[in-house]
Amino acid sequence: MTETSPGTGAPEDLPVYPAPRSSACPFAPPPGLLALHDADKPVIRVRTWDGTTPWLVLSHAAQRSILTDSRVSAGIGKKGYPHTTAAMKAHAAEMQPSVNNTDGAEHSRWRRMLTNGFTRHRMEKLRPEIQRITDDLIDKMLAGPNPTELNEALSLPLPSLMICALLGVPYEDHDFFQKHAGVTNAVYKSPEEAAATTATLLRYIAELIERKMDDPGEDVLSDLGARIKEGVLSMEEAAPLGHILLVAGHDTSANMITLGTALLLENEEQLTALREHSDDPRYVANAVEELLRYLTLPHLLARRAVVEDIEFEGETIRAGEGVIASLPAANWDPEAFPEPERLDLTRRAAHHLAFGWGPHQCVGQQLARIELQVVFGTLFRRIPTLRLAAAREDLRFKEDSQAYGIYELPVAW
Ligand code: HEM
Repeated sequence: MTETSPGTGAPEDLPVYPAPRSSACPFAPPPGLLALHDADKPVIRVRTWDGTTPWLVLSHAAQRSILTDSRVSAGIGKKGYPHTTAAMKAHAAEMQPSVNNTDGAEHSRWRRMLTNGFTRHRMEKLRPEIQRITDDLIDKMLAGPNPTELNEALSLPLPSLMICALLGVPYEDHDFFQKHAGVTNAVYKSPEEAAATTATLLRYIAELIERKMDDPGEDVLSDLGARIKEGVLSMEEAAPLGHILLVAGHDTSANMITLGTALLLENEEQLTALREHSDDPRYVANAVEELLRYLTLPHLLARRAVVEDIEFEGETIRAGEGVIASLPAANWDPEAFPEPERLDLTRRAAHHLAFGWGPHQCVGQQLARIELQVVFGTLFRRIPTLRLAAAREDLRFKEDSQAYGIYELPVAW
């Protein structure tokens, strides 16, 4: 039995999840994960880092079904929840309820606090500002040292500046919160390190909210402060919400900018087509959906605990068992995306699951989309000679982070 072929049921015989990526194809999901599609079973048991054996949902159709099933819960303290890291498991019981770990009416209450601030309409209004910041950063890049490192020069500053403005967080603190976001997303951190980082970020957000309660601005943290004053929200509830938005709001888009750039630099034909169509917003928007599909940066999501027995795809999934809907597996499911290994910027890919599916689907997806559309429509037009300034083999990919990415991307022009 190989490590990745579907097993017979004994825990030691089950495929190990997650399987390692191939260094020859670091942009693709792990070959061992993709091979599981061949068995034509949309859901199988796997063995994870702590010896538990949750269900892995592979197919695109089955994931859309399970992620909208009210018998699965996002509650990370629930029995059977398949924790991503030892740190998450250690602290699951004391985690504050929030938008990402509640269900049903309780989840809707959290969601309502956020959705108004992140509507497509509101985010579209930010497009000119996103374009201005992108152009400024590229101007600075062109005036600065060549080669340069893309995370520092563009990928991190753009989404960080945007989320800071939306939340009302001072951008001068970016070194501090970017460093802590890196620890938050790391898979191999210790429970102590995770607790210290979370506590530091929560304290930081709580202090900002407190200041905004005296001196409000037009931003999300001020809105949360106003709700605390009204008595409809406590600081213990507000701070984790700000924390999720700050971390998810910059680290994800930043990793997508860097990964997408590196992937395009390897695909000359697709890159040329994108450059030629960079003034066609529909082409660029479609290209971004294909990049999101191909790269599926939340590569270890989405995770749930089953709270009521479910008859699902010929299996009985019992209450108290865990489920992992592997988003990269859905996005490389040949039934949903023929020849998934082919990067095709003209492919109709908008039904990808890179932003998840169902009630927990990403709150910030419109913001992320616009940031990515602006960057990929601008970067290669403004710097047509952009190229990698390191050997591909020397790039360090973030297999050890919950948000896939590349630690450093040296580029030249
Ligand atoms: C390329 C960028 C991004 C990707 C790929 C991404 C992906 C995801 C995914 C897959 C989920 C669902 C997780 C699950 O079902 O368990 C999610 C949820 C979430 N995302 Fe994003 N995200 C991105 C950007 C952002 C941004 C910019 C923000 C904030 C402005 C954000 C805020 C959130 C929040 C608050 C949730 C929790 C929603 C809930 O549980 O109801 N994300 N994201």
